[in-house]
Amino acid sequence: MTGMRAQDLIEKKRDGGELAESEIRFLVDGFTKGTVADYQMAAWCMAVYFQGMTDAETTALTMAMVESGDRVDLSAIAGVKVDKHSTGGVGDTTTLALLPLVAACGAPVAKLSGRALGHTGGTLDKLESIPGFRVEMDTQTFVESVNRVGAAIMGATADLAPADKKLYALRDVTGTVESLPLIAASIMSKKLAAGADALVLDVKTGRGALMKTLDQSKQLAEKMVNIGRMAGRKTVALVTDMDQPLGWAIGNALEVKEAIAVLKDEGPPDLRELVIALGTEMLVLAGVAQTPADARQRLVTALGDGSALEKLKEIVANQGGDPACIDDPSRLPQAPVRAAVTAPRAGWVDAIDCKELGLITMELGAGRRRKEDKIDLSVGLVLKVKVGSRVEEGEPLCEVHAATPQSLAAVADRVQAAFSIGPRPPRLRPLIFARYGA
Ligand code: URA
Ligand code: CA
Repeated sequence: MTGMRAQDLIEKKRDGGELAESEIRFLVDGFTKGTVADYQMAAWCMAVYFQGMTDAETTALTMAMVESGDRVDLSAIAGVKVDKHSTGGVGDTTTLALLPLVAACGAPVAKLSGRALGHTGGTLDKLESIPGFRVEMDTQTFVESVNRVGAAIMGATADLAPADKKLYALRDVTGTVESLPLIAASIMSKKLAAGADALVLDVKTGRGALMKTLDQSKQLAEKMVNIGRMAGRKTVALVTDMDQPLGWAIGNALEVKEAIAVLKDEGPPDLRELVIALGTEMLVLAGVAQTPADARQRLVTALGDGSALEKLKEIVANQGGDPACIDDPSRLPQAPVRAAVTAPRAGWVDAIDCKELGLITMELGAGRRRKEDKIDLSVGLVLKVKVGSRVEEGEPLCEVHAATPQSLAAVADRVQAAFSIGPRPPRLRPLIFARYGA
């Protein structure tokens, strides 16, 4: 380390050079300790934004951030632990249905989840709409729960990748969030610190996603798979559609209800299909299924015979929640005001502004403006149409679940405007665009 200077490393990256692992470690360690100044790290991030990073550099950055904090030790859990991560979407109910399903098929799941961020919801908030459900526990209870029940979900208590937290805050105010290698390293550092043996990544693409274009989404997926491989974890990524909301429901309790419907084999077809696709990858990586066809068969069986639904009840009961809510979802929080927003004219729904519906749901009270805000678990939107649906004038597009008539009135026009109705059937986008990994 002797003689290394941050300014030389900034210049090297600015001029298109490749940094050695020791040089990246010097920057990350120095930034974490405060010996590399914020302005130097910001300048380096901007150089990375323009010059990019090789996979070796991106992996070195990821590992330096992993080593800046704690790692969750899951070694006491028997079997191959597979984690799942989504880059974030609107109405992305996947985890709530996927975890019990995969656990019911015999793959252990130890899931660390997050809270609502920006226009996207968070699994922890959704789960807390089940009365009594606790997302806080110590690591030992977490590990015991996975061994006994097959799955547990908790908020990150350990200090995972603190260098990423600090770097993300800096990027957020210096125009350097939107760099593929910096995003890939940021996500992967947290996932690797969370301790699983293998990873399934759901990289969203489209107007409700972090990555809007297919090309960028594919590059991110490929980069993260490469980091996973170089870090010694089996990693698979699917690039999936987030140009319209996933399923029908957006909102906390509404999405729990939707997940229950999937596990009763009555859920929306797109959500069901994505859950099965991600579940297939998880079962194969866990070694529970030998082939994708075998995995799919098991998942479909567990949805049909009630065992996945039963597993959700066990997970809920284990974490203090009321399992009766699963049999009777009307016990979940319900919004007092409900009204349909209708189509202003006849035609074909050719686009749904996914991000706008996410923002509207937050505005109804389902998300936070500031970290300490309390959220309303009952509110949200339930779509009555998807892209490709035929509608007549006056038919419902979406049901709004609101806390007050005023908050309903405040969003009704925006909800209607988020649905684009055209004269002919649109070309439908695939649900899954690409797959990367072993
Ligand atoms: N999500 C993350 O965790 N990190 C990023 O850099 C962007 C999105
Ligand atoms: Ca949904």
